[in-house]
Amino acid sequence: ASAEEEPAPVQRVENPYEGADVYVNPDWSANAEASGGSAVADQPTAVWLDRIAAITGGSAGNSTGLEEHLQNAVEQAGGEPLVFQMVTYNLPGRDCSALASNGELGPEEIDRYKNEFIDPINEIVGKYAEENPNLRIVNIVEIDSLPNLVTNTGSAETATEECNTMLENGNYQKGVSYNVGTLGEHENVYNYLDAGHWGWLGWDTNFQPAADLFNEVISTAPASPDKVAGIAVNVANYGSIEEPNFSIDDTIDGKQIRESKWIDWNQYTNNTDYGLDFAAAVDGGGGLIIDTSRNGWGGPDRPEGPGPETSVDEYVDGGRIDQRIHTGNWCNQSGAGLGERPQASPAAGIHAYAWIKPPGESDGSSEEIPNDEGKGFDRMCDPTYEGNPLNQNNPSGALGNAPLSGHWFEAQFQELLENAHPPL
Ligand code: BGC
Repeated sequence: ASAEEEPAPVQRVENPYEGADVYVNPDWSANAEASGGSAVADQPTAVWLDRIAAITGGSAGNSTGLEEHLQNAVEQAGGEPLVFQMVTYNLPGRDCSALASNGELGPEEIDRYKNEFIDPINEIVGKYAEENPNLRIVNIVEIDSLPNLVTNTGSAETATEECNTMLENGNYQKGVSYNVGTLGEHENVYNYLDAGHWGWLGWDTNFQPAADLFNEVISTAPASPDKVAGIAVNVANYGSIEEPNFSIDDTIDGKQIRESKWIDWNQYTNNTDYGLDFAAAVDGGGGLIIDTSRNGWGGPDRPEGPGPETSVDEYVDGGRIDQRIHTGNWCNQSGAGLGERPQASPAAGIHAYAWIKPPGESDGSSEEIPNDEGKGFDRMCDPTYEGNPLNQNNPSGALGNAPLSGHWFEAQFQELLENAHPPL
């Protein structure tokens, strides 16, 4: 073949979302459409590779396999730039501080992670990436994994035996480094590491140790900073992009609002400020994706202005748009709504608002449901649960009658539509 017939070499761009469309997952789209969500059914959502079988297809929420998705993506692209968003989520000993998304690989099965999960994904991704320079593959790397090693280990009140095992055997760090290093070989794969959210790593006692851990993992071969495009925050969580009715420096009667129960001495109140600072502290591209699939908090309970200046708590609670009982609550939150629609470069320094957690897919079952997906029952998904140190012993705020994590949760989807903000 002459030089002219070779496909154009792939050029890594700074922000893959800029000037590109984003892949619409037909599986999610069909669920949304069938549940009265035609107003949003054409929105792009991420494809979750949440177990080995998801590569070939057939798992809940992911009936289409990766190769077929990429074929669809090439068609959707029609020769123009298109972002394909995938979440790689199958580390050994996955979800070490909770039960709802415990995975299929045991804590020591790092070789299976590499050989049976990352390598087969890499083979498929590699083929499509090379043949289709217009495809930009965004890889959201292993939700909650490194953040869990920071806050839920050692002698912390929130430590679990499972997280301590993973910290000690190093298999989260090795898995993330292998994932980033292997897939990042392709110039059109963009790796974003999951960095929790403001209500998790926003305290200075967590922030710097987390950034240090991220940088250590990123600089451990086969990973390297040039294979990292940035971080993703608020994935599958409910924290807002901003709190328009107060800012962290406000005081009431000389008291900092940081003293309020809601903020609880955190350095942040929202995912934009937290995300931008964390992205800047991590080696690599410095880009930021914020998952806005379920952080809209519209509907009748959304405050229209600041709370009363009677006390720090009344001021913060009266003004905050995030209506959760506590920022540590994460499962099927009652009252939540769809957030900002996916968009590129919504504000300075932000690569994209994206719907990474497909709205309408459950975070976990509200009671025990036997299953062959390795999923446990986490009481944070039970509406009657009174909490634990992770949410400072507050009620869970979860909706009842929820199916297993990843399964379609019709009632939640209806509520997300009703409470969307911006409204639909
Ligand atoms: C589940 C996955 C699912 C993902 C997206 C996770 O909580 O564990 O099975 O694919 O959510 O809905």
